[in-house]
Amino acid sequence: MPDPVEDQPLKGRKLLLGVTGGIAAYKAATLVRLFKKGGADVQVLMTPDAGRFITPLTLGTLSGREVLIEIFPENEDGTWTKHVELGLWADLFVVAPATAQTLARLAHGFSDSMLTATALAARCPMLVCPAMDHDMYLHPATQANLERLRSYGYEVMPPGFGALASGLVGHGRMPEPEEIFARVVEKLGAGDEAARGASLEGKEVLVTAGPTREALDPVRFLTNHSTGSMGFALAEAAARRGARVSLVSGPSALPTPPGVTRVDVVTAEEMHAEVQARKDADLVLMAAAVADFTPETTAASKLKKTGDAMTLRLRPTPDILAALGREKRPGQTLVGFALETDDGLANARRKLERKNLDWIALNNPNEEGAGFGVGTNRVTLLHRSGRTEALPLMPKRALAEAILDRVTASMRAGVPEGT
Ligand code: CTP
Repeated sequence: MPDPVEDQPLKGRKLLLGVTGGIAAYKAATLVRLFKKGGADVQVLMTPDAGRFITPLTLGTLSGREVLIEIFPENEDGTWTKHVELGLWADLFVVAPATAQTLARLAHGFSDSMLTATALAARCPMLVCPAMDHDMYLHPATQANLERLRSYGYEVMPPGFGALASGLVGHGRMPEPEEIFARVVEKLGAGDEAARGASLEGKEVLVTAGPTREALDPVRFLTNHSTGSMGFALAEAAARRGARVSLVSGPSALPTPPGVTRVDVVTAEEMHAEVQARKDADLVLMAAAVADFTPETTAASKLKKTGDAMTLRLRPTPDILAALGREKRPGQTLVGFALETDDGLANARRKLERKNLDWIALNNPNEEGAGFGVGTNRVTLLHRSGRTEALPLMPKRALAEAILDRVTASMRAGVPEGT
């Protein structure tokens, strides 16, 4: 029978293990041993309080690397940027046990120890394993912090039910080291799969994001609730995969993702012009919520109320994606988004055909956890071949990865034929 540890499923993998100050910290020793036996290179980061439960010497000896605690180490050897190096180095960052205190710090962006600073700098996936007393775990503050972490794309491994160190029985036990080990193997295995088919090295990628604004007069405009988060997540993920990424964005407060060239626009017409200027991209991801109509005229001065009803005359804006579809070149891949409240699958399939797309991602803004202004989304991906895949509810950053995994795999397989 294959041995889940001896087969070295983590060979060549780099893991950060964050250990915080709770009684379950003693289990970190077993976890380090499992990771090492599984073939991983392990760097342990402890919060200062974790040392009350397990010594850095124990974890340092088991991992074969000095345990790091303070963000500014006592021996000033010029290595204070280590959190950034480690954040880039790791394939996965596991925090086990994660106390209520550390969860709060992570949720709110504190960087007061090597563990929390590295979490902020890390580009790798995060897996947190809460462990605390039952009531602390169920407190709305802790639950809100966990929800916030999920919205950043963190995976939370729910604690088990059983006897707790406080003498109470309830939720709050850290999952056993063997369970955490198994989840880590699964996560990194899936990452491998994705990496094989998912590089966008050398590709030109064009992403649109955010709403557009159509002015009625100098102070008023027509728009929608889009914040840009889905498009920004796609741009970030595409850049990480090695693509040259242009992000044409309507008004959005989000920061430009690293390595992405951003072009800000306001109206649908402006977005159309900027997209047309980049229409030869190998992959276009049209995540913007473009206004379908714009006022026939924009008043030069503020419109005054007269006491009477007012009629607005609107004219259609260009359909940016349909224009790209009409001129699609062989080998180019076009991905659209469809926001449908009724009859989603049929409408999305019609849109895919009408706009000559390769893929369309369907979502329903009325569904809980999906649509505008939330960190998560649930989409169903439709491919021009007729294939349909309903993806689970997930953070938008994880969803961006899931969409790119499928789109890039089909690009490499040459599935989308130019028409
Ligand atoms: N889109 C576009 N230009 C427009 C309107 C939409 O490029 N003027 C793109 C969107 O970015 C999205 C896709 O077309 O990728 C579908 O958008 P959606 O608003 O769902 O569909 P519409 O074509 O506007 O159709 P309808 O309003 O009838 O649902």
